[in-house]
Amino acid sequence: MKTALIYISRHGTTEIIAQHLAALIGSNVTLYNLENEPDPVITDYDQVIIGGSIHYGSIQDQVKNFCKRNLATLLDKKLGLFICCILDSTDSGQFSRAFPAVLGAHSVAQGIFEGDLIFKKLNFIERILFKPSVDGQDVIKINEKSIASFIKDLAVPHGFQRTMPTPHIPSKC
Ligand SMILES: Cc1cc2nc3c(=O)[nH]c(=O)nc-3n(C[C@H](O)[C@H](O)[C@H](O)COP(=O)(O)O)c2cc1C
Repeated sequence: MKTALIYISRHGTTEIIAQHLAALIGSNVTLYNLENEPDPVITDYDQVIIGGSIHYGSIQDQVKNFCKRNLATLLDKKLGLFICCILDSTDSGQFSRAFPAVLGAHSVAQGIFEGDLIFKKLNFIERILFKPSVDGQDVIKINEKSIASFIKDLAVPHGFQRTMPTPHIPSKC
């Protein structure tokens, strides 16, 4: 199965996660950074994974635009979607706002992987913004459990329908 792993990262965390996911998937994975390649062609891929990070409540515009432009094609692929964010591991609405609802419903795997806040990587304004809330300390909270569960969900065959088990009718004695 050929996989396109499409991502964008502001300070490097999503990039590290994208590389980690590619290693976990193993073979036939091509990584595309939307910063350098804003519109990768995905027609030849069976599986597409898209991820970005949340800043001021939103995912990067490059992710939103890529999803809009490729909506019809993405609905024909096995799809995984993920975000990196620091606020919490539950869906505080950031994930559902990040991707079109129709893609969220179509995706077989959804990941909220949390993230990092490394002070030396932040710019001047970002340091001023975050210093009071985290006391100038780095926050390192990539959620390995969510990553493992994302990979597990991706392993389910495309188009697989969960069906009710056939009831067992005991034969008459
Ligand atoms: C300026 C700034 C704004 C952020 N805003 C949010 C936010 O609104 N919600 C959130 O959950 N995390 C927020 N974060 C945390 C980032 O999502 C987190 O640091 C993530 O790991 C960044 O990944 P990246 O380095 O790949 O861009 C913010 C971080 C920065 C630096």
